Amino acid sequence: MHHFAGHGSCQNKLFYPVIFLILFNASPTNQISDSSDDPPHSGPEIENSNRRKLLSYNGDILAINPSLAFENFRLKNAYIALQAWKEAILSDPYNITENWIGSNVCNYTGVFCWHSIDEASELTVAGIDINHGDIAGKLPHELGLLYDIALFHINSNRFCGTIPESFLNLQLLFELDVSNNRFVGKFPDVVVQLPALRFLDLRFNEFEGELPRQVFERNFDALFINNNRFSSELPDNFGNSPVSVMVLANNNFQGCIPASLGKMTKLNELLLINNNFHSCLPNEIGMLKNLTVLDLSYNQIVGTLPESIGELESLEQLNLGHNMLSGKISSNICTLPNLNNFVYDHNYFSEESPACLNLQAFADQENCLRGRPRQRSALDCQRFLSNEVDCSTYKCALPPPSPTPPTTCCTCSPPLPPLPSASPPQLPPIESPPSPLPPPLSPPNYFPPLPALSPPPCFTPPPTFSPPPPSIAPSSPLSPSPNQNSSSPPAPNLPAAPPSFVEPSLPPPPPPCANQKISPSQDMSPPP
Ligand SMILES: *[C@@H]1O[C@H](CO)[C@@H](O)[C@H](O)[C@H]1NC(C)=O
Ligand SMILES: *[C@@H]1O[C@H](CO)[C@@H](O)[C@H](O)[C@H]1NC(C)=O
Ligand SMILES: *[C@@H]1O[C@H](CO)[C@@H](O)[C@H](O)[C@H]1NC(C)=O
Ligand SMILES: *[C@@H]1O[C@H](CO)[C@@H](O)[C@H](O)[C@H]1NC(C)=O
Repeated sequence: MHHFAGHGSCQNKLFYPVIFLILFNASPTNQISDSSDDPPHSGPEIENSNRRKLLSYNGDILAINPSLAFENFRLKNAYIALQAWKEAILSDPYNITENWIGSNVCNYTGVFCWHSIDEASELTVAGIDINHGDIAGKLPHELGLLYDIALFHINSNRFCGTIPESFLNLQLLFELDVSNNRFVGKFPDVVVQLPALRFLDLRFNEFEGELPRQVFERNFDALFINNNRFSSELPDNFGNSPVSVMVLANNNFQGCIPASLGKMTKLNELLLINNNFHSCLPNEIGMLKNLTVLDLSYNQIVGTLPESIGELESLEQLNLGHNMLSGKISSNICTLPNLNNFVYDHNYFSEESPACLNLQAFADQENCLRGRPRQRSALDCQRFLSNEVDCSTYKCALPPPSPTPPTTCCTCSPPLPPLPSASPPQLPPIESPPSPLPPPLSPPNYFPPLPALSPPPCFTPPPTFSPPPPSIAPSSPLSPSPNQNSSSPPAPNLPAAPPSFVEPSLPPPPPPCANQKISPSQDMSPPP
């Protein structure tokens, strides 16, 4: 009986990493062996208490000391995974993995156990959180043995390489946060094949190339892709994504702002800051009724503002600064009921409604606005505005509708059995860093306005061991409650709050390239 049986009607594509259990006689004190005359036996685990069981992986051989007793096979698999991981660690300045010894993996720092979903009486590793560990190393294939893991948080370490293919095994993985590490290469395709994944945080790494189309077909709630090296255009199925938060800032995306974004009715925050988008704004943008934060600054967006922006009734923060927009800013934008911060400096706007000057915060300098201070020279304006913008030249039209409507639902993801609903008191708060670390001012800001989402129809509630958003975290800085009396002073020129891709608890990101544009909303400093 495989422990994945019963998860759902769909075939679980189980993938075993290259693991051989080798049996041979050897001295029990010899923990690591690199040679064996016996041929390796692959296949099911063979219990034999008189012999040593060895895990062979790519030539390295990890021994399991026969004197170790494991509560169940899940914990034993976890032991193999964690020991392989420990082997792959080159630097651990806070000694986080120092106590990763012995069979009681639930006691390891950063490792959290909870009742197995398919066998409630058995403990299993349900979460890993070594955020801010400053650990250097790589992720070994054996991590694919953590079959039951739901949370994998390794933000702010120095892991390099890629996400192993064996992560395909992690069919319950719900949150993957590998931000602020040194991962490289193309988008880790394995993550779009994880049926339970809802929160994906890849920011502050060196991923490059394009975002695969499947990213936008998956049932993600939040996508943090910012501060990588992605280039390429966004695919036309962009709008199929049901995310509430999409942060693509500080990459090198190009081309159109996809018109399909009009379908993203759940979208709450969209941050495309500092890329190379070069097109007009699609009129469909006005369909984003739930959008509260839109930041398109530091791109090359051209043309006039679609009137439909005046229909973004939830919008609180709008940043269009540092683009090549022109024309008029109409009053129905500046009188949007919830808008409290509108930045549109460094464009070529030639007219603004007086209502804009009454906003709580706005920035309009370096435009072509007569009578306003700090505008571009008449010559600059004339030169730019004499070239008419023809949006059709950017070829950004919505493609013909596909015959089959896009499904945002997880037709092939196994429905998870209901979880024990009792709150897990003994589970340590997964957001807080491991004890040897100094407590950060605020926990990793990984939960923007997530739980506000109503889950999609066929999505069963998140695992109960997923902790609630930390209460000490100030509610997402990007979702200030409009009804709330503003307790924070409005900043005159900056957004009242930094966009959520600013990770307050991240250490300063890798040094920016010498001539990198820094937007005012890219403040990386921790909050006061
Ligand atoms: C980690 O362990 C080493 C060796 O035991 C010790 O010298 C060092 O001070 C420890 N570092 C921390 C941060 O505890
Ligand atoms: C696990 O840790 C707890 C508390 O630190 C300790 O009491 C217990 O003995 C440990 N269990 C094992 C098997 O090491
Ligand atoms: C979007 O907003 C509408 C009302 O403005 C609300 O009823 C709906 O629940 C929101 N949807 C999401 C996914 O937040
Ligand atoms: C908002 O703040 C002002 C001054 O700080 C105060 O006078 C007013 O009563 C507050 N309103 C609410 C609704 O709390």
